[in-house]
Amino acid sequence: MKSIKILEAFSSLRVLVVGDLMFDHYIWGDVQRISPEAPVPVVHCQRETHTAGGGANVALNLASLGATVRLAGAIGADAAGERLVELLQGAGVDTALCLADAKRPTILKTRVLARTQQLCRIDYEGAASAYTLESNPELLAAIEGSDAVIFSDYAKGVISQGLFSELLAHARRHGKVVSLDPKPSRHLDFHGVGLITPNRHEALELAGLPEPDHGEAYPLAEVCRLIFERHGPELLIITLGADGMAICRGGAVERTLSTEAREVFDVSGAGDTVIATLTAALAAGASAVEAARLANHAAGIVVSKIGTARVDPEELRASLNSSPEED
Ligand SMILES: Nc1ncnc2c1ncn2[C@@H]1O[C@H](COP(=O)(O)OP(=O)(O)OP(=O)(O)O)[C@@H](O)[C@H]1O
Ligand SMILES: [Mg+2]
Repeated sequence: MKSIKILEAFSSLRVLVVGDLMFDHYIWGDVQRISPEAPVPVVHCQRETHTAGGGANVALNLASLGATVRLAGAIGADAAGERLVELLQGAGVDTALCLADAKRPTILKTRVLARTQQLCRIDYEGAASAYTLESNPELLAAIEGSDAVIFSDYAKGVISQGLFSELLAHARRHGKVVSLDPKPSRHLDFHGVGLITPNRHEALELAGLPEPDHGEAYPLAEVCRLIFERHGPELLIITLGADGMAICRGGAVERTLSTEAREVFDVSGAGDTVIATLTAALAAGASAVEAARLANHAAGIVVSKIGTARVDPEELRASLNSSPEED
């Protein structure tokens, strides 16, 4: 399938994202002096920006690609939650399944930056048990009404084994494309999932291998073999940061793609772009290699932008045109 055809199909896709929702807040300022109150810099705030994180960022990525997106997750009944919902709705994301509850705060990360130097980060976050989501008829109906379901697990509590197993089984029964961005620390049993997209470190953890010693090569073939042995995904795509990504099936590395990034400014959120693009492409009928190639271009574009960023089909088209299709 030609990449252009895949891109065109994005606008008729319906995707449900289930996952941890986060709100990223940045305070940008300048430091001229040390505080008289304590030996700390005084940041004179010049502007504030906000963006969505976790599953909310996956949803924004899909919306930017042109898909119709529904998002399910847990937020607090607070100002950060309202602003997050506003931001998502502004991008066209359906937030009816983002459940607000006063018993937990919306997960919020405030970063204080002096020029471009991060001085500190302040997190607002409750215990994982405060963010659990129960399966419900609306969620099951949303799965039926979607072409694909993405589980975005940031280990904040939404993706419990019970919820995951039930939604996965329902999605499979209805023949949906299902993908998971896993957090190994959750020890989730995800047998039967269509695609997982761990990064280099998460893949080692899923394989039960230690971090290689300094200077030692990344044991890609072994990581791949062990993940299939232990977890049995249909398709495994390991994102390798500056080294691109590896496409693995049936316990073996089928192919690796080197990064398409020409410049790198900010790698945060690239993993969200990868799972969004991969899943959309697979749901549009692309092969694993075609989907990965597209996702690799999408990631190459977002890392060249400052701040957590998204990519649209126009930018993808331009990037694809600048590097000729192989095979
Ligand atoms: N430093 C980099 N240079 C070039 N490309 C990069 C770099 N970092 C990331 N990428 C691109 O982004 C993709 C995903 O990145 P990465 O493996 O860092 O995912 P991740 O750790 O899940 O990211 P995050 O959790 O921040 O969203 C890579 O497969 C690659 O295409
Ligand atoms: Mg990631």
